[in-house]
Amino acid sequence: MSTDLPVGIHDLTFATTSLVLTHDELARHTGANPSKYHYGIGQRAMSIPAVDEDIVTLAAEAAAPLVDRHGGDTIRTLLLATESGIDQSKAAGIYVHRLLGLHSGVRVVELKQACYGATAALQLACALVRTDPTQRILVLASDIARYDLDSPGEATQGAAAAAMLVGAHPALATVDAVSGLFTQDIMDFWRPNYRATPLVDGKKSLDAYLHALDGAWHDHQSRHGLPLEKLRAVCYHQPFTRMAHKAHHRLLYTNGAQPTPETVQQAVAPTTTYNELVGNSYTASLYLALAALLDSDTPLEGETVGLFSYGSGSVAEFLTATVQPRYRSTLHTWAHQKALATRTALTYPTYLDLHSEQLPQDGHTYRTPHQTRGRYRLAGIDAHQRIYETTTG
Ligand code: HMG
Repeated sequence: MSTDLPVGIHDLTFATTSLVLTHDELARHTGANPSKYHYGIGQRAMSIPAVDEDIVTLAAEAAAPLVDRHGGDTIRTLLLATESGIDQSKAAGIYVHRLLGLHSGVRVVELKQACYGATAALQLACALVRTDPTQRILVLASDIARYDLDSPGEATQGAAAAAMLVGAHPALATVDAVSGLFTQDIMDFWRPNYRATPLVDGKKSLDAYLHALDGAWHDHQSRHGLPLEKLRAVCYHQPFTRMAHKAHHRLLYTNGAQPTPETVQQAVAPTTTYNELVGNSYTASLYLALAALLDSDTPLEGETVGLFSYGSGSVAEFLTATVQPRYRSTLHTWAHQKALATRTALTYPTYLDLHSEQLPQDGHTYRTPHQTRGRYRLAGIDAHQRIYETTTG
């Protein structure tokens, strides 16, 4: 197995829901000053799933452009990371596998560790490619972040899926072999099987995130990872975009700098443009930050960027990726911007209806109304089985 072989992300896309709730509209209901949302947590809007959208339809939507562009013949593994699982047994990726029309010679597995799961999937994918460089791996991160109404977390909801095609000699970015890890058993955010929404200790989760950043960074440095000054930018997991500011401030300070809000803002801004309009997308959030950076004006040819992945509970990893010289020719910038711009804005009452919407749990046949503008939809439930379909228009 060669560690010199360049392995990493060949192509990257994301998809989000058809509906959106702005924080201005939320503020009209909560009575909060909109500045708290816009500046305090750094959010403008959050994606809300239509009744016929879920983690399967989002993941298929994100992955379809990659399969359209590269074909599916060389894909040998599909890894889907999520913490919004729809089944305790069957991997959600199997539905995606069928919707994408992939051949049967593929292994499909679901991974979970809160928001960190997709980074585990990316590292597993890189390791698999190193054992057989002819294969490609489809890594999907798909989540719906849903908190209780009128809870502090409500303003940090969101939903999206990211898709990455991982392979040898990647066109977009190689993933460097050195990374820093940190694990700690902590109850900052969790969702027992019997709950639809998570339990969260908001303030504790902020501290846990920053503590994990310290731990992963120190592990990265002790393994001779690149020093901070060699990184052109750092993308962070963004439960809300202000968190990336707090994290970057911490990393600069840890490395002996005296950061100001302006220097932090300048460094982080190109990574937050998508997340401030999508909200928390759990496993996908870090990869939306990377997509935003790649799609930005920042020249990244040959540059190395840091990626900080955090999943409550908690596991964190600091890794680096080196952007390839011709990466711009692979970007999906226009499609990403279109996905955000064409969402339908919800009023607070329609958002409330969607928030309380539940699929039947008694197995009776149910057909979902057609709301999504996406290629794939959850058509309903039959005998406890989810029925997915490809839309015609
Ligand atoms: P809160 O109580 O609604 O808000 O909770 P707050 O009162 O702490 O205010 C938030 C910020 O807005 C503060 O800034 C205020 O000063 C500021 P800070 O002190 O933090 O710098 N503010 C204003 N700014 C401008 N104008 C104003 C104004 N008013 C106040 N008028 C909290 C916020 C994030 C805790 C809450 O939304 C929450 O619990 N969210 C969910 C948990 C979360 O996102 N944690 C993040 C770290 S854990 C993580 O990332 C993992 C996760 O993604 C899950 C997973 O791994 O699976 C969550």
